[in-house]
Order: sequence, then C-alpha cells, then structure tokens
Amino acid sequence: MTEFENIKVEKRGRIAVITINRPDKLNALSSGVHREGVAALEELRKDDDVRVVVFTGAGEKAFIAGADIAEFTEHTAVSQRAEFQRPTLFNSVDSFPKPVIAMINGFCLGGGNELALACDIRICSENAKFSQPEINLGIICGGGGSQRLTRLIGEGRAMEMLMTGDMIDAETALRFGVVNRVYPLENLEEETIKFAEKLAEKAPVAMQLSKEAVKLASKSNLDEGLRREIDLFALCFSTEDMKEGVRAFLEKRKPDFKGK
Ligand code: COA
Repeated sequence: MTEFENIKVEKRGRIAVITINRPDKLNALSSGVHREGVAALEELRKDDDVRVVVFTGAGEKAFIAGADIAEFTEHTAVSQRAEFQRPTLFNSVDSFPKPVIAMINGFCLGGGNELALACDIRICSENAKFSQPEINLGIICGGGGSQRLTRLIGEGRAMEMLMTGDMIDAETALRFGVVNRVYPLENLEEETIKFAEKLAEKAPVAMQLSKEAVKLASKSNLDEGLRREIDLFALCFSTEDMKEGVRAFLEKRKPDFKGK
C-alpha cells in the first residue's frame, strides 16, 4: 500500500481503515486529502483481500471540520468548479464497489458531513457534532450535501441544517437518521470494527449489488428501480457465492464466501 502525506491507510484483516491525518487542522479536507483519498480507494478497490473500508479522522476532536477554508482564498469560480468536477473523495466513495463506513469521532462539518453522507453507513461517538455551515461563509454545499442529506433525512430537516448552519448533536443526528448508530467515544472504534467485520463476512458480489440497488432508489423512478433490482437479483444466481450460501444453509453450517 502506498504511503501518503495527508491520510493514513491501515489494513486490519479484511478491513481497511483510512484516517484523515491533519489533526492540527481538524482534518480539514484539502485538495491533497481528496487526491490521496481517491488514489487509496483505487488501490483498495483492486485489493480482493479488502472487503470493507472505514473512514475516520485523527485525534479525539474531529472527524473532519469541513473543506479546507484556507484553500478557498486561492480559487476563482472557474478553478473551484474544475476542482470539484475532478474525481473527488465524495464521488469515489459513492461509486466504491465495497461497503464504506464513516466512523465519526467528533466534529463532522461541511465537506466532512458530505463525505460521511457519501458513505454507506455512519457510526458516531456521543460527542460528535454535525452541521452544514457553508451558509456562514456565504457559500452553499458543493460535495453533494444538498442532494444526499435531503434524500437521507427529508427536505424540512435538510433545509433547516443548510439554512441555519447550526450544529446538531449525536442524539439529534440519530433521530433525524443522519447516523445509523451512536456509541461512547471509548467504544466507537471497537463497535465500528465489529460492525465492519460483520459486513466483511457476507458475500462480496451480493454486497456490491445491494449497494448498487439501494442507490438506484434515489437515482431512478420506482418502475425502473424495480426492473433493475430483478436484473441484479438474477445476476447473483451466476455466482459461486450464491451456490455456497444456499448449500451452507441446507447443510446447517456457516457459508465461506469467496467473492466469485
Ligand atoms: N479549514 C481550514 N482550517 C480549519 C478548518 C477548516 N474547515 N476547521 C478548523 N481549522 C483549523 C483552524 O483554523 C485552526 O488552525 P490554527 O491552529 O492554525 O489556527 C485549527 O484547525 C483548530 O481549529 P479551532 O478553530 O482553533 O478550534 P475550535 O475548537 O476553537 O473550533 C470549530 C472548532 C470546528 C468550531 C472551528 O474550527 C470551525 O468552525 N471550523 C470551520 C468549520 C466550517 O465552517 N467548515 C465548513 C467549511 S465549508
């Protein structure tokens, strides 16, 4: 695995943990983080030993405190647009063929929340705080926040978060449906890895197709989504994993999925 400057990638069995490693800047998403994150995901995509990716932030204060605001001063409208039209971490996570979990260990703001929203599952600590504070800088979301947050929690709640820029706490985030689970900070890592290990045991091709199918729900109309779901479902019948899963059930044993 390549060594990076702004992120740390660590493989723990079948789980890869990507840590945004700029704790002195509360792990703000610089262009370097985007570039390295995209490159790391490309390596992990091809690595058959890795079945689940977990994103987190270094230190105990922040997951990610947003886009790197210092970089905003260098941009014109045209250069900022080009920056976000390049492969960003948001798009790479969204289209990554394996499950991606955001392990949110503190401030989860702006682009940090947008990265978490691009992930498949969000698990946070009790001290986590969430917001889309762009309005306070005179800008709006650019990493998918207005789209993914609205689809996840509905227009009224998304509108409130984007219009006020206020932070919500972990309990509110759980109630809104921004996060799936909340744990005390000291248990966050253990519980998240336990959850990731559960996903790592499942059939990888079916896992990829599940992700694709769920994402179709917000990208297509119901008829098209239902039609495509049948195609993806039928595709599973061509896998060795499907045969193994069915055989294991009938033989009353645990399946051993190979991702084929
Ligand atoms: N971009 C660049 N640098 C950031 C940053 C960001 N999004 N968020 C924090 N930092 C930097 C601070 O500038 C500071 O750097 P310095 O020590 O060199 O001055 C360092 O991280 C620590 O942050 P600080 O503000 O001193 O911590 P705090 O505990 O007082 O406040 C926050 C924490 C999260 C409330 C505050 O940092 C903040 O509001 N950050 C910006 C959040 C934001 O608007 N993000 C959306 C961007 S679109």
